[in-house]
Amino acid sequence: MNAVSEWTRRCASVCLRCSKTGGAWTMKELSDGIFADKGKLYTENLVPGIKVYGEALAKKDGKELREWDPTRSKMAAAIMKKIKTIPLKEGSIIFYLGAASGTTISHFSDIVKRSGLIYGIEFAERVFRNLIEIAGQRKNIAPLFADARLPEKYFWVEDCDIVYADIAQPDQTEIALRNAHIFLKKGGFLFVTMKARSIDVTKDPKQIYKEEAAKISGKNYKIIEVVDLEPFEDSHAMIVAEKGQ
Ligand SMILES: C[S@@+](CC[C@H](N)C(=O)[O-])C[C@H]1O[C@@H](n2cnc3c(N)ncnc32)[C@H](O)[C@@H]1O
Repeated sequence: MNAVSEWTRRCASVCLRCSKTGGAWTMKELSDGIFADKGKLYTENLVPGIKVYGEALAKKDGKELREWDPTRSKMAAAIMKKIKTIPLKEGSIIFYLGAASGTTISHFSDIVKRSGLIYGIEFAERVFRNLIEIAGQRKNIAPLFADARLPEKYFWVEDCDIVYADIAQPDQTEIALRNAHIFLKKGGFLFVTMKARSIDVTKDPKQIYKEEAAKISGKNYKIIEVVDLEPFEDSHAMIVAEKGQ
């Protein structure tokens, strides 16, 4: 059994123990629009019947739920690792750097529902085409083909509740901060996924997370938590910070 399935098995046994129903479903809402059952995460499908990345679909109380895979999405991995800060909710406005094909964005889209909006920045043409297709089905995703290093190219974007950066670049923290400085509301949350190997392959990942968190706190942000994403993502962490007033 690999590390991830061992982890999932352990989470499942915890969920089953806290079940009140004793039946097949032990589904509980962990946070606004995020559900857990037997060690698996789900969001309610905004577009019933349509999958985004081959994920499993499940029915519960007339709702269709999409399984949220923690090995495919760092936010799902952070939730499995018990991240405390989950400000995503119906109506949230999110600025997302490194949208790729829209795997994680599609779950954010389920959570923020039709009254929310996600601006998704991506500069790789091939994955951007997939993102456009998903945005055609989900009207709360605004795909932007742009380089996240050049926020002046999309300066018209409104102030957002959350800036989420997953760009796997050596200067990812600086890029995330530049964008958050412009587009994140005061008191809003900045999420930066850290791929230690993109920054320095020779250094201890924990030292890298500490140094990157210090860069963020040096810019009027309060570090709320740093969540190690092992075993779902090797040498990755999620840094969560709150923008000062
Ligand atoms: C790790 S993948 C993102 C996966 C995605 N966040 C998800 O969970 O579904 C990183 C993405 O960031 C994009 N990226 C990297 N640097 C970028 C930049 N400067 N501007 C825009 N996109 C960038 C890459 O093209 C790639 O698609």
